[in-house]
Amino acid sequence: MAKLIVFNWKNKIYKTEEALKLARISDLKNSVICPPFFLFNQIKPIIKKSELGSQNVFLSEQICTGEITANTLKNLGVKYAIIGHSERRCFLKEDDKLINKKVLACFKGGLKSILCVGESKKMKESAIFNFIKNQLINNLKGINSDLASKFLIVAYEPVWAIGAGNYCKPKKVLEIIKFIKRTLSSKFHILNFRVLYGGSVDSQNIADFLKYKEIDGTLIGGASVNPQELKKIVQKYENFK
Ligand code: PGA
Repeated sequence: MAKLIVFNWKNKIYKTEEALKLARISDLKNSVICPPFFLFNQIKPIIKKSELGSQNVFLSEQICTGEITANTLKNLGVKYAIIGHSERRCFLKEDDKLINKKVLACFKGGLKSILCVGESKKMKESAIFNFIKNQLINNLKGINSDLASKFLIVAYEPVWAIGAGNYCKPKKVLEIIKFIKRTLSSKFHILNFRVLYGGSVDSQNIADFLKYKEIDGTLIGGASVNPQELKKIVQKYENFK
């Protein structure tokens, strides 16, 4: 499976000119650009190879002020949604139950969900695997394995590495990604899926993750909104195609 690269602009970009510049650099096959909602329509006409991703999705199609549903996203031409990002788990208290509903809403609406899991800094090394296994079990409750094979992507994102400039050692990431893959196959019978790494990925370290065949791509936040850095990331990523 080709490596996937996901660019998460968070709420850092609001000027159209800036957004278009970044989108042009990020416009690669097997890449997903996740801008703030209000930029979807500006970016869509200029991307030829990338897909659009949302940074969030509502838990159902029910009416709710300020939210955006899977069907709306689909109609806007969005193909992916990030779910369970640690910033939302932390600042908005999104819990496993809510995240599970969002995953199901994505599958139902035909969106690929990029489910973020990962331990916080405080956790003991020995507890990490169990913690992640529980996140997967709780976040993926009731999923259909055929739909999951089509629509599920997992991003391993240790909370302490996000936006910190302090990435998780690639060998450790490899170990955890292998564990996630084993859990998804044995517990959920999902056959075909990608597991990405996210957390302070930049042009200096991206190759150290992508060189492992088990690491199916990366989710990049801060470095994806810096045009100079982004160009270097794209160059490195092109070597893995
Ligand atoms: P970062 O963000 O690359 O700035 O650490 C990763 C993310 O958006 O999860």
